[in-house]
Amino acid sequence: MRILVIGNGGREHALAWKLRQSSEAERIFCAPGNAGTAEIAESVAIPAGDLDALLRFARENRVDLTVVGPDDPLAAGIVDLFAAEGLRALGPTKSAARLEASKIFAKELMRAQKIPTAEARTFPDSGEALDYCERVKFPVVIKADGLALGKGVIIAPDAATAKSTIDEMMNRGRFGEAGRRIVIEQFLHGTECSLHALVDGSSYRLLESARDHKRALDGDQGPNTGGMGAFSPANNWNKKLQSQFEAEIMQPLLHGLLQEGITFRGLLYPGLIITNQGARVLEFNCRFGDPETQALLPRMKSDLLPLLQATIDGNLSNCAIEWDRRVAVTIVLASGGYPGKYETGKAISGLDDAAKLEDVQVFHAGTKRANSEVRTAGGRVLAVTALGSTLEAARTRSYEAVSCIHFENCHYRHDIALGDR
Ligand code: GLY
Repeated sequence: MRILVIGNGGREHALAWKLRQSSEAERIFCAPGNAGTAEIAESVAIPAGDLDALLRFARENRVDLTVVGPDDPLAAGIVDLFAAEGLRALGPTKSAARLEASKIFAKELMRAQKIPTAEARTFPDSGEALDYCERVKFPVVIKADGLALGKGVIIAPDAATAKSTIDEMMNRGRFGEAGRRIVIEQFLHGTECSLHALVDGSSYRLLESARDHKRALDGDQGPNTGGMGAFSPANNWNKKLQSQFEAEIMQPLLHGLLQEGITFRGLLYPGLIITNQGARVLEFNCRFGDPETQALLPRMKSDLLPLLQATIDGNLSNCAIEWDRRVAVTIVLASGGYPGKYETGKAISGLDDAAKLEDVQVFHAGTKRANSEVRTAGGRVLAVTALGSTLEAARTRSYEAVSCIHFENCHYRHDIALGDR
């Protein structure tokens, strides 16, 4: 089978790495990929946003299955485009991808199905939103309706911050069209948890739980990032929460989507917060999490490829997923300055030494091969995963691997999977 993985992050390296292990995988292409995917797949110099070129490539190279990594191509309708040409692509259609691409759509669906989530109001107009700041109780969470590279969610502790955020988003176009409409919601206290489910339209299979670390600095300080580390399973998840999650979130969600005439096929990743009252939805994502995928896939014993096929074919009810009971800890190595300004082109050393360690996998993100050297080429550079019999063992092994790797201005958190966040 010929497989095309779209994207160039650590998530896509992990997907290509896992698919490479399938006996059915004949050729794997990665568009555009990175220095890590280039070692296990054929790199294709097409950016993830160039849908027409991707379609042409898939057609000309007789690609049997396309796996879409990032959210933007899904929101732009890549799966519809491929399906119209008879090509199989894993991910929701443009209409179903609104669960992630429109916070307002997701909130309305949750409200209609009584899915537990923060109370919220939506605003198409800045005047009303600014008035609302006079009477709402703080803190609040302000969300741009559309996709904003993971930066469209702001916690406002007071009215002054809320008003300047509303002004920047709605009047000054900070996130372009994505911020013209906003959601203002109640701030929920608790700990976060990432769930992933393969959904085939009517049934689903949950993956193991995970937690990520979104803030840039130790102690959950500093700005939000795409994710500085993750571990799986989550230490705040249990069977009782899972039953509540399935009964109150997954089942009503699928029912609500079908009522709207939407068939969701692909990977659904609800971001949850565990409160004293149980799990509440913070957001829905329509693709694998990054860096959660780098922690989840090394624990998956089952072949991923038939699971993805069954997701597209509506056959998941016949599938089971087998897991390694060990714990995975993933640490992200970033360029100094990330998520703000950073330099690229720094030579990376020690990758082979890290990879030689038992139960360690080094996934590449922002990397590029220049002659014989691997160099940095992005904000998040590498994601180092180690498996261990306990969280502590996995964590120690992962940091041991990280200590082998060097590049100028390398930055990583020292408290991944440490204590309760
Ligand atoms: N880990 C956060 C995300 O993938 O959105």
